[in-house]
Amino acid sequence: MKISIIGAGGRVGSNTAFALQCLGLGREIVLIDANREAAEGEALDLMHGGAFTASQIIRAGEESELDGSDIIIVTAGLRRQPDEPRLALINRNVGLFEDILGSIKKASLGAGTVLLVVTNPVDIMTQVAVEKSGFSREKVLGLGTVLDTLRFRSLLAEQFQADPRQVNALILGEHGDSMVPIWSTASVNGVPLTSLKGYDQQQVWQIFVRAQKSGAEVLKKKGGAGYSVAIAIAEVVKAICEDSGAILPVSTMQTGCHGLRDVCLSLPTKVGADGAGDRIELELWPKELSALNDSARALRETLRELDSRSLRS
Ligand code: LAC
Repeated sequence: MKISIIGAGGRVGSNTAFALQCLGLGREIVLIDANREAAEGEALDLMHGGAFTASQIIRAGEESELDGSDIIIVTAGLRRQPDEPRLALINRNVGLFEDILGSIKKASLGAGTVLLVVTNPVDIMTQVAVEKSGFSREKVLGLGTVLDTLRFRSLLAEQFQADPRQVNALILGEHGDSMVPIWSTASVNGVPLTSLKGYDQQQVWQIFVRAQKSGAEVLKKKGGAGYSVAIAIAEVVKAICEDSGAILPVSTMQTGCHGLRDVCLSLPTKVGADGAGDRIELELWPKELSALNDSARALRETLRELDSRSLRS
């Protein structure tokens, strides 16, 4: 498996390469960045650890070396300010992202290549990628709310002193301000949250709010998240490499679940070697469903704004 990371000189890309290395995912990992030297430094540092990790080739490369990639991960893009919504980044990142798509289109890739979009605002970029990359829509995944779900579970585990791996709680919709916590199915290994000792509705809502704002919290404290983003990305890559059919809240072009279509956002989705499989319709509470519709509406409005300002070429 050849995995190329575009935007690998920065924190998210390099942390992703490290997570893939630690998990032994991919036979060849190519780090691509506008700052070639940074990519070379990261690749060298990672390669030095190879003797204790996995049999992998880890190297720096150029966009012209994407040929034969099985997975292309795009993290390149500017970060927002802590007080900005992710959607504010469209002005800055769409042009850059379209240039990257141009390089991807020039590469000689098999029909099986999966494109994993991480650049923010991720749902919008995923939509742009579906429309512009030439990839079939099932091969384009956005990291979506995989990261928010990860944060939510870890924060809930801390609150309830539970094993975080046993916490099942989803966040769906936009990876952004309108993300939706799904309380109706939240549990710790099948035990509903409401049955746990010390359960308090207001307190768990505050935990969701903290998860929702975690990106900004970490941005303020250390200049941007890296490790947790990388762990979230690696989980998606693992599902693709192992063709596991893992159900993950990746962002994909919706085709009718919950009445949502023609917009990219996160729903529980089967992920395997072919990219996105079935989207799964949950029995949501009416207020969850309506929040999900609001999230889709917020994203559609941004897409309309992009079009009206001709930001999508
Ligand atoms: C965050 C960025 C990756 O949530 O959106 O940290």
